[in-house]
Amino acid sequence: MKHNLAFLVILLATISMINAVPHKRATQFGPCTDYGVPPPVSTVTINPDPPTAGASLSINVSGTAASPINQGVIISVAFLDANYNLLGTASIQDFCSQAGISCPVAAGASFTVPTITTTAPPTINPGTILGINIGDPSGNTNPVQCAMAHL
Ligand SMILES: *[C@@H]1O[C@H](CO)[C@@H](O)[C@H](O)[C@H]1NC(C)=O
Repeated sequence: MKHNLAFLVILLATISMINAVPHKRATQFGPCTDYGVPPPVSTVTINPDPPTAGASLSINVSGTAASPINQGVIISVAFLDANYNLLGTASIQDFCSQAGISCPVAAGASFTVPTITTTAPPTINPGTILGINIGDPSGNTNPVQCAMAHL
C-alpha cells in the first residue's frame, strides 16, 4: 500500500511536470476584429509555424466566399507591429489572377489561393501581427475575407 501511494505521488508529480513544460502551439488565426470589421475568417496555414524571424514563410489561404469576390480585389499579407504599423513590405497580389481562381467567386463558393511566399520581419516581438486580407485595393476598408494572428 505504501509503495502504491509512492507510485501515485510520483505519477502525479510527473504529470504536473509535463503540463508545466510550455507547449509551443500552432499560430491561431482569427477574425480581423482588430481592424474594426469582423468579416468571415479564411483558413490559413503557415510553414514554418510559428514563423522564423527573417526567414521565408509559406502561407496557404482558403475559404468560402461570404459575398461575391469580384475582379480588382487583392490579397495582401502583412506583418504589423502591436500598433498596426507595417513591418517591411506587404505582399500584395491580384486575387482573381491566382491559379485556380476565377472571378467572380460566387457567394458560398469555396476558394483556395496558391501558396503565398513572403519573408518574416527580422525580429518578431510579442504582439507582432500577421494579417491576411482579401479586399479592396484601396486599403483595409471593406475586406471581403480576412484573418489575423497575434504571433
Ligand atoms: C500548402 O498547400 C500545399 C498543396 O496542398 C501543400 O503541399 C503545402 O504543404 C501547404 N503549405 C502550408 C504552409 O500549409
